[in-house]
Amino acid sequence: MEPEKEHNIMAKVTGLEGVVAGETDIGLVDGERGYLVYRGYWAKELAVTRCYEEVAFLLWNGYLPSAEELEQLKNEMAASRKLPEYVRRIIELLPATVPMMLVLQSTVAALGEQGNAAWPPAQGEAVRLAAILPTIIAYRYRTLNGLTPLEPLPELGHAANYLYMLTGQKPTEAHVKALSAYQILCMEHGMNASTFAARVVLSTESDMYASVAGAIGAMKGPLHGGAPYEVISMLEAIGTKDRAEPWLRNALENGNKLMGFGHRIYKTKDPRAEALQIATQEMTGTDPSFDLALHVEAAAIRLLEEYKPGRRLFTNVEFYAAAILKALELSPDIFTPTFTAGRIVGWTAHIMEQAANNRIFRPQSIYTGPMPQNEF
Ligand code: ACO
Repeated sequence: MEPEKEHNIMAKVTGLEGVVAGETDIGLVDGERGYLVYRGYWAKELAVTRCYEEVAFLLWNGYLPSAEELEQLKNEMAASRKLPEYVRRIIELLPATVPMMLVLQSTVAALGEQGNAAWPPAQGEAVRLAAILPTIIAYRYRTLNGLTPLEPLPELGHAANYLYMLTGQKPTEAHVKALSAYQILCMEHGMNASTFAARVVLSTESDMYASVAGAIGAMKGPLHGGAPYEVISMLEAIGTKDRAEPWLRNALENGNKLMGFGHRIYKTKDPRAEALQIATQEMTGTDPSFDLALHVEAAAIRLLEEYKPGRRLFTNVEFYAAAILKALELSPDIFTPTFTAGRIVGWTAHIMEQAANNRIFRPQSIYTGPMPQNEF
């Protein structure tokens, strides 16, 4: 092939932008229209009307659970929430310098003990992994911070148990709803890097545990699971409503990006931001920090149109995720793990879908190195 033609193909395939890597019944992301659909339902509606377990059931099975099915799933999750003794020991053995995402990766891999991992992967494994992830996060968080780890409480649901095991206090209904809305909105987002990684690992007829561990590795990178710290810093730096416009204008004059705005795919308001805005409002009510966030959002959208006309820059998921995580008083080092504890549902749904119609992923590459100069 002529070098110029090869170069054009490479330019097109870098990052696989626009390349279709498979078909899925699980989720639709339409950035032009601002659609995020989970199995035929608007994700933003599910986030504010359903609990974590109901949406997990929907993504795994393709339909919303009946009351008995929901009860059964809740019981299965409750039974899977406790850490096996050897997993506790692994967590304790890992030095404090090992980041939380690598702790998750190591423990998820270790849960796939011999004879534990099924082919094809079973829904029971997805339930077990989704149930246990918050316990691993909370156990690590509390031991690193000199706090006694807490056992999950059987009477609490998934999101409530997570907050309880982290903080040691039974959370309010508003806090549970807010965390649940956030994690539901994180559950599924098409063929993103970590979901693709999970499907690639599974396509070799590996197992659920290895595939989720691969996905956690992909999620760890700042280009994917990057935490919304910067939005929090921006809101703290702005401080009061009267400072918003001059602060934002100054940032744009200096060529800086406004954190929590713009998206590669969404060219309208990110539907996840819309739902998180509702959930944040329900939790914080008339809290001044929410009032400030609303004011900053409106000023930023106006100024982005002035400074970057035609770029279609709107609020993205990070803007209100920051507001929610801050209001829940979660420590910034567990922002990405909290995102992961939602996304694990989407990964495991994709893993089962991949297994149901599997063909190993094996793309081509274009060789750009030298050829041997000798005959052999
Ligand atoms: N503030 C100011 N200008 C912006 C912003 C922003 N937040 N986002 C994009 N622009 C401008 C760029 O400067 C560029 O302008 P130019 O045409 O004059 O050069 C134009 O809009 C296009 O921007 P790109 O960076 O090329 O857009 P891309 O699709 O590559 O990037 C990204 C998307 C990374 C999200 C970008 O909008 C950004 O950096 N936003 C701020 C950080 C942020 O909020 N990240 C979280 C994203 S949500 C998520 O990842 C889950």
